[in-house]
Amino acid sequence: MIFAPKTVIAAANDENIAKAAKLLKQGTLVAFPTETVYGLGADAFNSAALARVFEVKNRPHFDPLIIHIAALETLGALYDAARLKKGMENMVLRLVNSIWPGPLTLILPKKSAVPDIATAGFNTVAVRFPRHKVAQALIKQAGGAVAAPSANPFGRLSPTRADHVACYFGDKIELILDGGQCEVGIESTVLDLSGEAPCVLRQGGICCEELRRITGGMLIEVNKKNRASASPGNLPGHYAPLKPLFLFERGEAPECGEEDAVLFFSRNEHPKHGKNCFFLSETGIDTEAAACFFELFHKIDAGNWRRIYAEKASNTGLGAAINDRLKRASFPRI
Ligand code: TXA
Ligand code: MG
Repeated sequence: MIFAPKTVIAAANDENIAKAAKLLKQGTLVAFPTETVYGLGADAFNSAALARVFEVKNRPHFDPLIIHIAALETLGALYDAARLKKGMENMVLRLVNSIWPGPLTLILPKKSAVPDIATAGFNTVAVRFPRHKVAQALIKQAGGAVAAPSANPFGRLSPTRADHVACYFGDKIELILDGGQCEVGIESTVLDLSGEAPCVLRQGGICCEELRRITGGMLIEVNKKNRASASPGNLPGHYAPLKPLFLFERGEAPECGEEDAVLFFSRNEHPKHGKNCFFLSETGIDTEAAACFFELFHKIDAGNWRRIYAEKASNTGLGAAINDRLKRASFPRI
């Protein structure tokens, strides 16, 4: 892999985290690991730095960013509890206490201090408290609030390793903190709490079954007609590999040749397999599959395969989030 000389991939030790925090405070962008995927960070209160995030990612300005925090006290500086609908303050508390720090992003009424560019002019703000220790240390030292989309060009595969980020942005960003491979492997679940009831805008690292358990069954799911509000980044074509991707149902045999890569969900269901077969998990465990989802797509995409055929997951647990990504990644391109 060839990186521009400008890029530094630095081990995420104390010294480099301090260096990265200083860069963020100066308005420079830094890529860093979280438990979900790598983020492209900027000081959440520096509008010029935020504008650079959109530019580097080639991200449309209508698509708002998630603000990452590393202490619960910071939440109060970002969101306006007084504008929550009846009963929702209690819901915020329940979710925050059960899941944060972790892969859940909450959409909440925004305080005016949050720059409009971060929220794409919306009157809501997306907030997440990651559980990755490197992310937490960096955010704390950088002032407490770091806006970070996934560190990939808009629409492309999310990065789960530092070298994925370097391949995308090697000539555009100064520092990538290397924290190894991301543990969850898919992005956070985005849950809108600004309406009358919790509404899932993006499936992700916390599954709907778990959310329903915490909210006492109260949950509106994405893609249903009663969806409370739109998530601008939730476009039909997203997370795309460069190679054309086709999906097949679990247990079916894909109609493809040896020059095509085939991605199965579980190795133990396919004891006999060719060199062109890849597996998301050994025994069909959803968390294992999610953890290597983007990793495998990056690997296959870099190989000499003509097309990719991927088996759908079961629609339970993180399988639903995997299927959502597969569906978007296979959306027909022009
Ligand atoms: O796991 C993650 O969430 C990663 C890591 C780096 O934390 N970040 C991430 O950010 O996936 P990004 O920008 O790739 O996706 C953020 C999603 C987008 O779909 C965006 O439209 C949605 O969150 N979003 C952000 N603010 C919103 C808002 N105010 N209302 C509705 N959707 C919002
Ligand atoms: Mg993204």
